[in-house]
Amino acid sequence: MRLAIQIFQTAMLTISLSYAGVMAAQDTHETVERETSRPVMRGGIVFKNYCAVCHGERGDGRARAAKLYSRVNLSIQARPAAYYEKIVRQGGEAIGASPFMPPWRDELTDEQIADVISFLSVVGDPVRRGEVAFKTNCVLCHGVRGDGKGRAAALFSPRPADLTRSDKTDQYKDQIIRLGGGKLGRSPEMPPWDGKLGDGEIADVVQYLRTIVILPTPKAGNLP
Ligand code: HEC
Ligand code: HEC
Repeated sequence: MRLAIQIFQTAMLTISLSYAGVMAAQDTHETVERETSRPVMRGGIVFKNYCAVCHGERGDGRARAAKLYSRVNLSIQARPAAYYEKIVRQGGEAIGASPFMPPWRDELTDEQIADVISFLSVVGDPVRRGEVAFKTNCVLCHGVRGDGKGRAAALFSPRPADLTRSDKTDQYKDQIIRLGGGKLGRSPEMPPWDGKLGDGEIADVVQYLRTIVILPTPKAGNLP
């Protein structure tokens, strides 16, 4: 009996060690939770659902509804959080701005308002916007660091690409994100995002991906 227990324990140890070895850099549930529950991330989703229709997905005022408000400027400028808070809660009219900016205090929870204000602090920055879009849509496969070690990565063969080692051009990345892997002769498990992400969001994600690429180490001794 004791021997059986020992064999069992050794086997378990071996299994957990090899598991740790293989999975060392794999995202954990906690890693993903920590990234995706940040206010700026949750705020990105609120913004897309409630605000982008007028302000555009990048907050630059280029939106489908913009022609309805041809005389007001729908682009969101960098402003103090207190200003954002006031206009978002009370609406444009309450602060002497356009009444077409609705009050949100009854529509959104306090948490959603705080989250969306947090997102407004990055809405003018393409790389940070791209990071939010990437972490909202891509991390299950590509990992929170973009290194291909997402929670679901093991389900795919070939594995989701390590985007920190990508040697592809921005144009290629734009295409594969838009059209999916299948259309480019790659794995159809890489989904097409056209329709789910707007043109601006795809461009932002590509900009963000550019910032996470780790440059290949130059080979020593390659001078003539
Ligand atoms: C129905 C269209 C509409 C929607 C939806 C809308 N807004 Fe607005 N928003 C406006 C208009 C119009 C203005 C311009 C007010 C002005 O300049 O007179 C504005 C102005 C703003 C401003 C001030 C921008 C600046 O730099 O002065 C902020 C911040 C803002 N909106 C945030 C939001 C947020 C956050 C949401 C979503 C929760 C949202 N808006 C949804 C129409 C809209
Ligand atoms: C369901 C899993 C899955 C999701 C979600 C996913 N991808 Fe992928 N992606 C893949 C797989 C698998 C590949 C590798 C395809 C191959 O090698 O044939 C890939 C490849 C890529 C490549 C090519 C990289 C290179 O260097 O060749 C890019 C860029 C990319 N994905 C970006 C994204 C972005 C951005 C998102 C989110 C908007 C995303 N992916 C979401 C599975 C996924």
